[in-house]
Amino acid sequence: MTRVSPTAVIDGIGSCLPPRVLTNEDVRRRGVLDTTDEWIRTRTGIARRRAAEDDISTGDLAVAAARAAQESAEARADLVLVATTTPDRRCPATAPEVAQRLGLGTVPAFDLAAVCSGFLYGLTVATALIRTGVCTRPLVIGAETYSRIIDPLDRDTAVIFGDGAGAALLRAGDRAEPGAITGTDWGSDGTGSDLISIAAGGARLPDPARRLCREDHYFRMRGREVYGQAVRRMTASSLAVLDKTGWPPAAVGAFIGHQANQRILDSVADRIGIAPRCRFGNLRDVGNTAAASIPLALADTAAHRRVRPGTRTLLTAFGGGLTWASVALTWPAAGPRAHPPEPRSTNSTKPRHTHRRTPSWTLSTTTS
Ligand code: UT7
Repeated sequence: MTRVSPTAVIDGIGSCLPPRVLTNEDVRRRGVLDTTDEWIRTRTGIARRRAAEDDISTGDLAVAAARAAQESAEARADLVLVATTTPDRRCPATAPEVAQRLGLGTVPAFDLAAVCSGFLYGLTVATALIRTGVCTRPLVIGAETYSRIIDPLDRDTAVIFGDGAGAALLRAGDRAEPGAITGTDWGSDGTGSDLISIAAGGARLPDPARRLCREDHYFRMRGREVYGQAVRRMTASSLAVLDKTGWPPAAVGAFIGHQANQRILDSVADRIGIAPRCRFGNLRDVGNTAAASIPLALADTAAHRRVRPGTRTLLTAFGGGLTWASVALTWPAAGPRAHPPEPRSTNSTKPRHTHRRTPSWTLSTTTS
């Protein structure tokens, strides 16, 4: 008897959007931008996006989306991976605290930095971990609060990006099941590292408070150059993963691309040969949410039951690095769940200056 080799199966899907909606007109007015609702809609396909309130962090969105994914699967994770460009802090990673807040004990947990390709990089890593027996139920989360790193005066980025989180809980299964990951492709090209970047805050420019201006802390993107790369890389990677999987493009019944710009998505789908009725997403309502973009589109499409479980599906993404990735899978049977953000208790968000001795009166007030 031939043994079917195990693969990863998407068993649960969850999402979380912060409640505050910013329309194109809100974004224009806030930055006094030389733009219009009409321009943003026709050139990007975006009508509105979400922006987290000040007391909601990337981790808060991640916890809610992850909890929803676990409920969707009626199972608990044994590894947590958070793909994000906007971690709660530079150190430590956001994932261990997300795992702790989910009550997962001491499971391994780490962040993954591949900008907008982060979620598909995460699925690729999780699939390999399942296939090699390292874990059995990895939770892959894409979570972002770009509102914290976007310059409201920069019309190249302010009109595009939004906040949110999506998550998928995986398990071991076989290729015949709905939700089975049947192929992956990924890559990077560091020669384009300046096309999408934040100048300050890393080891190259580590002293922002004293030497650098505020501008250096903002996310910057050379839009037109990125546009061309995005189309080229997502098309090539999609064709590569279809080739590895043995699916002709015409067999793909559901296509979800990284929600950067509707014109980019249409261009990629046209080049691959995906019919318009097979293209799904919610870019118009959430904007570009970077690592959260693909799982948010998955959750939205599944919630509206637009695709039948088992349908051959292609996911593709492109982002800073430059990075790109594509995943071939069959549409999962999981019913998605959505939760509101889960803000952490205010006490624990305050920075602790452990190098100073805490005066005894502070101790007595906090413990009373
Ligand atoms: O998520 C990671 C990957 N990110 C992406 O893939 C995003 C890629 N880039 C884009 O989505 C697009 O390049 C943008 C949305 C950033 C810009 O759209 P575009 O169609 O590439 O615009 P463009 O830079 O080619 O500019 C076309 C025109 C220019 O005016 P002229 O020279 O034709 O008079 C720009 O000055 O549109 C003007 N323009 C704008 N006008 C109103 C550029 N941005 C804006 C704006 N509002 N926000």
